[in-house]
Amino acid sequence: MTAKRTHYCGDLRAEHIGRTVTLCGWVHRKRDLGGFAFLDLRDRTGLVQVVIDPAAAPQAAAAARDLRAEFVVRLTGTVAGRGDNVNPKLPTGQIEVRADSLEVLARSEPVPFPMEDEIDALETTRLTYRYLDLRRPALQRIMMLRARAAKIARDELTERGFLEFETPILTRSTPEGARDYLVPSRISRGSFYALPQSPQLFKQLLMIAGYDRYFQICRCFRDEDLRADRQPEFTQIDLEMSFVEPDDVIAVTDGLLARLFRETIGVEVPRPIPRLTYAEAIRRYGVDNPDVRFDLELTDVGDILGATDARFLREPHEAGGRIAALRVRGANFSRKELDELNEAVRPYGAKGVANARVAAAGWQGGLAKFLRDGHQAALRERLQLEDGDLVLAVADADPDVASTAAGRLRQHLARRLGLVRDGSWGFVWVTDFPMFERDPESKRWVAKHHPFTHPRPEDIPRLATDPGAVRALAYDIVVNGVEVGGGSIRLHEPEVQRQVFAALGMDETEARRRFGFLLEALAHGAPPHGGLAIGFDRLVMFLAGTESIRDVIAFPKTTRAACLMSGAPSEVDAAQLAELGIGVRREP
Ligand code: AMO
Repeated sequence: MTAKRTHYCGDLRAEHIGRTVTLCGWVHRKRDLGGFAFLDLRDRTGLVQVVIDPAAAPQAAAAARDLRAEFVVRLTGTVAGRGDNVNPKLPTGQIEVRADSLEVLARSEPVPFPMEDEIDALETTRLTYRYLDLRRPALQRIMMLRARAAKIARDELTERGFLEFETPILTRSTPEGARDYLVPSRISRGSFYALPQSPQLFKQLLMIAGYDRYFQICRCFRDEDLRADRQPEFTQIDLEMSFVEPDDVIAVTDGLLARLFRETIGVEVPRPIPRLTYAEAIRRYGVDNPDVRFDLELTDVGDILGATDARFLREPHEAGGRIAALRVRGANFSRKELDELNEAVRPYGAKGVANARVAAAGWQGGLAKFLRDGHQAALRERLQLEDGDLVLAVADADPDVASTAAGRLRQHLARRLGLVRDGSWGFVWVTDFPMFERDPESKRWVAKHHPFTHPRPEDIPRLATDPGAVRALAYDIVVNGVEVGGGSIRLHEPEVQRQVFAALGMDETEARRRFGFLLEALAHGAPPHGGLAIGFDRLVMFLAGTESIRDVIAFPKTTRAACLMSGAPSEVDAAQLAELGIGVRREP
């Protein structure tokens, strides 16, 4: 009988000296030195050095002769101290294992990249050999962190009375603002399931069913343009509660985040997490996902700069636009650097950034020549200017364009000037989002969060008359300028739900066709309820300190939504298509 594993490699310490241990793992490295063979044996816990002395263990030495990197072995030996050869860089560096016997369990082809933390392999190679990439200690640490975070979330929510549910993957479309992934039905030809963009309606139905507190660590599917923090399938910590107000959902989330950050990386989340209304976030930071780790806030100066002779300022102001200014203390930007600021705002539709440098002897910069003494004095007071400061202003007739551009300029300056302290954290809730926004293409109102969100009660009368002014009981949690989660109180009154559908241009027939089951359920005793979902992958990115969402997902997809390892998506057999009644047209 073969010996069973007694320990993991990375767990051995000085206290094990003298013990006989059996280890299983991968050969990380092998060196031959003075007749001895030295192996670094690796498993998910770390590395340990193994020494094979041919005189003491001829069988092990023979078996080790043609070992190469990534061979899988089982060995038994005795833990010994390393004397003068302690390796302080390794947690197991005080000891080594003197092997008595060794068995090769599997051989390995030469690997395309070494199992090291820092490698220079192309990402396409890493993704093609994802099982090897995942074998690297850096990724193993992240995957173990992810598992720990999921466990903490389960523990916390279960302790708070939440019940874990599973909801369907083959379902009907739930609108969360992206395209659906569709799955054809074989039995009902011409009909399709949609993969859930989120379990939104099912969790609401569970509240109507009386379960009071639901959670799920669930997969969501969205066919949308991918970015560094977006994947076509991703995971949410999804929760829903009955008989609650925004404060209750926010308090549960604060507690969950506090525990997750504390128990994984030892970071204390401020409690309560500070809050900003959407309107305030836009006014002070220009965006609804502000990075609050640095100040550099926006100041409205439309009344001052809109009264100058500069047409590029006066016209947007008179058209009801916004002029937002930023004060940069003592920045001395070159011509080229000032041009870069223009480049930073143009992608957001703004024409450029006006600048003036404050000086007692006379202001300089493109904006300076339009400023008479009164304007200068007013700006000095409003922005608390001192000599040497740089004033930057962004103006646009569309206040949203001006805000976004100024907000992005703020972020650009923070990077450029190094305003974010390493290791600092910025947690903030953004509340009272608008219910609707204009879809630039169709020019119709679309739900800013989703159409099941409850308006602020006092705004309900405006649903029919002024949808743009209706605020929602919706909230996002933002970490370091990234939206990590979002949620809302839901509509539990069928009549108000109908009014919201109507504001979205959905008539009664269309609403019944798409959401009849929801309207029906709402008419059968729906408690007031609300919830939220945290983007689990984005959360783990923060805990792991990585910039790419692909680092925190075991088997991620590329930005073209492909899996390079398995080759998905792939063509399917003609017979399979025929069975589904599907023909494929290849031209676009
Ligand atoms: P929402 O659409 O805001 O809300 O999603 C919640 C959180 O999920 C994360 N997220 C993503 N992460 C990775 N890749 C993506 N493609 C992606 N899309 C979203 C974000 C986001 O904050 N049903 C509602 C929640 C609710 O109202 O309770 C919902 O899904 O971190």
